[in-house]
Amino acid sequence: MTGTLGTKPNALLFGLGAIGSVYASVLQRSGACNVSVVARSNYAAVKEKGYALDSQKFGKHHHMLDGVFRDTKEAAASGIKFDYILCANKALLTAVPTLADQLAPIMSDQTSIVLLQNGVGNEDPLHAAFPNSTIISAVVWTGGKAVPTGEDGVTTFQQFAAEGLTIGVDYAEGLDRATERAKLDRLVEWLRAAGSDITPTEDIQKERWIKVIWNACWNSLTTVTRVRTNHFFASSPGAAEFATKLMDEVVAVARAKGLDIPLDTPATLLARCQVVPGAGLPSSMMMDNEAGRPTEVEVILGTPLREGQRLGVPVPILETIYTIVKALDWKNAHPDEAAAPGP
Ligand SMILES: *[C@@H]1O[C@H](CO)[C@@H](O)[C@H](O)[C@H]1NC(C)=O
Ligand SMILES: *[C@@H]1O[C@H](CO)[C@@H](O)[C@H](O)[C@H]1NC(C)=O
Repeated sequence: MTGTLGTKPNALLFGLGAIGSVYASVLQRSGACNVSVVARSNYAAVKEKGYALDSQKFGKHHHMLDGVFRDTKEAAASGIKFDYILCANKALLTAVPTLADQLAPIMSDQTSIVLLQNGVGNEDPLHAAFPNSTIISAVVWTGGKAVPTGEDGVTTFQQFAAEGLTIGVDYAEGLDRATERAKLDRLVEWLRAAGSDITPTEDIQKERWIKVIWNACWNSLTTVTRVRTNHFFASSPGAAEFATKLMDEVVAVARAKGLDIPLDTPATLLARCQVVPGAGLPSSMMMDNEAGRPTEVEVILGTPLREGQRLGVPVPILETIYTIVKALDWKNAHPDEAAAPGP
């Protein structure tokens, strides 16, 4: 795609954080599309000064955006028709307003949604709300964080791990598959041109469920125990085996859904976790919970639990750990009641 001024397609990042900034920058450096963002907490600074990405893989970049919006109503008022909306916000299935409600003002049948989020089950409410739109779903393999703003006042993010995306269409009922796939291929071409290590797949649900086996285990165990992974392994002789049993439940649910997940996935993921040096890994769920923020409990534990119950797969450990994380979330959502429980 060459695209002259005024004819470029438009991409919108919904959420400009550690992940959103990486893909906003990749798209901007591709030159293939105009890039706008809906930025909430950092709106004013990003609008005035743009943002910077300091990446081990991509180098240092400072970008001004083609549009910076406080919310999707403001984005809609700009009159821009978005071809791709990349959601790099936290996946909170039970939040109000829902993601679908928030996206509604900027959706058309020509708009594809791209989920750069953790978890499973994220696509379902979007298909229900936007049956004529293509929903693209990705597993993101990278790490990063916001760094404190320096004297220049530029909102800055660090990306400190390798970067890769496994990405595919979550095909919609009643839409033409070749047309949907072409929308994916176009985006893949842009991202690849700017150096993203991107792997398209025809079975994105398999990849998302493999990632959620990892997250359901390590995110939730670090959250409820409040220790990093190696400290968890050291804490009792059965700890690693318990983690494996938890992962086995998620594997059983995914296989009952018809996904081709190898039975030795938990052993592979356990080995990958155990080679991490030092105290081991923290997790985004642990950090969210300790900072008083809501966790991604529903897409990481809730969907696997409900699917297990629906399909008649025993999921006692998932049920236990989901219930505990929900209580921790409740405490953060009700700080006053939790601090003063009464008589
Ligand atoms: C892309 O952004 C530039 C300004 O950054 C603007 O002049 C141009 O009209 C935009 N193109 C589209 C199609 O929105
Ligand atoms: C989807 O497209 C069909 C056919 O063009 C149309 O009848 C229907 O109203 C559209 N649905 C929505 C929710 O936009």
